[in-house]
Amino acid sequence: MATKLSEILKQPHTKMTEDNKMRLLNMRVDDYNKSKGELTEIDCPICNNKGLVMKIRQNPMFNYWEEYVTDCECMEKRKLLYKARKSGLGDYLKKTSKDYEATEQWQKDILQKASDYCKSDNDNWFVILGQTGAGKTLICSIIANYHLFNLNKSVVYITWTDFISRLKRDMMSDNAQTVSKYFDEVKNAEILFIDELLKKYNETDLKYIIEIINYRYTEGLKTIISSEREAGELLDIDEATFGRMVEKAGKYITNIQKDRKKNYRLKNIL
Ligand SMILES: Nc1ncnc2c1ncn2[C@@H]1O[C@H](COP(=O)(O)OP(=O)(O)OP(=O)(O)O)[C@@H](O)[C@H]1O
Ligand SMILES: [Mg+2]
Ligand SMILES: [Zn+2]
Repeated sequence: MATKLSEILKQPHTKMTEDNKMRLLNMRVDDYNKSKGELTEIDCPICNNKGLVMKIRQNPMFNYWEEYVTDCECMEKRKLLYKARKSGLGDYLKKTSKDYEATEQWQKDILQKASDYCKSDNDNWFVILGQTGAGKTLICSIIANYHLFNLNKSVVYITWTDFISRLKRDMMSDNAQTVSKYFDEVKNAEILFIDELLKKYNETDLKYIIEIINYRYTEGLKTIISSEREAGELLDIDEATFGRMVEKAGKYITNIQKDRKKNYRLKNIL
């Protein structure tokens, strides 16, 4: 008959049988794994929300059994959720290709291009320009989400206007360090999604986008761009910079000709 646990615990460790040492070790591991942690968002039955699990292994040098602590498998998902929240995509994070209605041929073409883009493993950019309300932000969000959740990449989402306002606000507060930290974060993002590019701008704002595009072009960093401005307009603004954008996008550039019928926001009244 196995010795009672209370009896085992009274014995000095050196006198314990290997069997009893193992029972004790298992007990410690169970206790640790059952204890509750304070992580939120995912309710994990394996680590009870500590993010860590205790396991048993044979010490490689001295051959005895010992406990060790390692990341729980839920940590991958937690990190992903953290990255997703940090991306700034907000409600758009829920969007997948299932949310994109493709009844018209032009929408089918966009969806196909987006799907090809997600599967391609080169560093092309995805650029979609033109008609307001035509689903540009939606399709770019779907692509950004695919990179976040399926390819485990980090995405930074900015709308042009908010980006510029934030830079200006930080500059007003005379905190040069904050400005350059935020600017560098955006410039160096693994995947950068710039929404509503150059919606409004002045000459000083232009130098930021020129620096970002030139840098990301040289460094081969994937960039997703949506803008109401058509390719010709962007090229008129700065041909060298937007020429690079067009080059990087290659076949993944779409110019949606201005046509009110393509404005999804108006679909019930037209
Ligand atoms: N193909 C589509 N399927 C489902 N919903 C769509 C589709 N296209 C657009 N929408 C919806 O219509 C609205 C406008 O789309 P979205 O914001 O993506 O347009 P946009 O081209 O980015 O417009 P803007 O240039 O004004 O920013 C959103 O609510 C979006 O979810
Ligand atoms: Mg938009
Ligand atoms: Zn866990």
